[in-house]
Amino acid sequence: MSDYSPGLAGVPAAKSRISYLDGQKGILEYRGFRIEVLAEKSNFIETAYLLLFGRLPTAPELDRFSTDLRSHRRIKYRITDLMKCLPDHGHPMDALQAAVAALGMFYPAKNVENPEVQYHSAVRLIAKLPTIVAAHARMRHGDEPIPPRLDLNHATNFLYMLTGKEPEPMMAEVLDTALILHAEHTMNASTFSGLVAASTLADAYTVVSSAIGTLSGPLHGGASEQVVEMFREIGSVANVRPYIEKKLAAKQKIMGLGHREYKVKDPRAVILQKLAQKMFDRYGKSPLYDIALETERVGTERLASKGIHPNVDFYSGIVYEKMEIDRDLFTPVFALGRVVGWLAHWIEQLKDNHIFRPTEIYEGERERAYLPLDQRS
Ligand code: ACO
Repeated sequence: MSDYSPGLAGVPAAKSRISYLDGQKGILEYRGFRIEVLAEKSNFIETAYLLLFGRLPTAPELDRFSTDLRSHRRIKYRITDLMKCLPDHGHPMDALQAAVAALGMFYPAKNVENPEVQYHSAVRLIAKLPTIVAAHARMRHGDEPIPPRLDLNHATNFLYMLTGKEPEPMMAEVLDTALILHAEHTMNASTFSGLVAASTLADAYTVVSSAIGTLSGPLHGGASEQVVEMFREIGSVANVRPYIEKKLAAKQKIMGLGHREYKVKDPRAVILQKLAQKMFDRYGKSPLYDIALETERVGTERLASKGIHPNVDFYSGIVYEKMEIDRDLFTPVFALGRVVGWLAHWIEQLKDNHIFRPTEIYEGERERAYLPLDQRS
């Protein structure tokens, strides 16, 4: 009874060599590399290789990985047809989860411990997720999906498939960095959910679709969408303080603030804020940015004593809005990055697999007498 920890807070669920987090100091490392260094010097595809295989690739290795990813961008027309049958008003995260679950039927790969199966499953998922998200986003507005272009890099191609035009290079660079920042984050809820599925030896498509479902909730990936909605609801810099005071008095949470692990400002929020600033300097400021800055200021003043500061989702939404990405696509964009972390943990789990089967503390009644229906009041 004494070691029960609600939400498994502080309970190690795995031994891992993938990422390191120090929530007191605001440090995040992927495979021993600081996130600030990767955001500045690497790109999403190289970081994906690093996370999956544990080291930076050589030039030929990166070339092969990149070529494989490009060649797997297309999705089968049946996947497109499947998405056409979904309701227009359905959330894109639910469509993504359904499409990814269906992918597994097209690429049956039950021998999940085989490194070749792991490589090809990982490549297919990282390559196809942007195509699925973009195709669904277009079809729900009645537009035809735009096929992927193999000459464009990962982020540029995604924005192209979404809008039909090649994005400004800086927009694509910022999205690429945002994908790096979202690629991995130790034992978070969606990774844990994916690992539970992985521990049953389910295939990579099942693992990822399970993780996508978990990411969709507002306390996890869904927060970025709600943060932008909150900024809109606040409406003006002058209204920030009254809004926050009212929320706190009602014991409600301010979206985008707080993190189970970080007790200082999330290092990814620091980087995203700099990227937002860079984009606004170039393309003009989002009217929500001043509201965000004031929300951070007042929120920190009121909540820093509890270790509550902006998390990664605090600035990601206003960055994506500037790229003209629809608000309900923010979490799917998060998934385009995080799929790498889920897959890295999937591969690691299979090296020394134990099925997850925690226990529980039973608090219900026992040995009850069964009354026939006509005797129940
Ligand atoms: N606004 C106001 N108060 C908060 C906030 C917040 N955003 N977050 C935590 N608190 C308060 C709680 O009310 C609680 O106060 P109390 O001790 O006086 O009751 C205390 O801080 C601890 O809160 P918990 O919810 O128990 O902290 P936990 O570590 O379980 O939760 C979480 C972390 C879920 C992220 C929480 O901070 C939250 O709900 N934040 C808003 C949603 C959000 O931004 N989620 C995105 C997280 S990042 C990501 O998933 C990528």
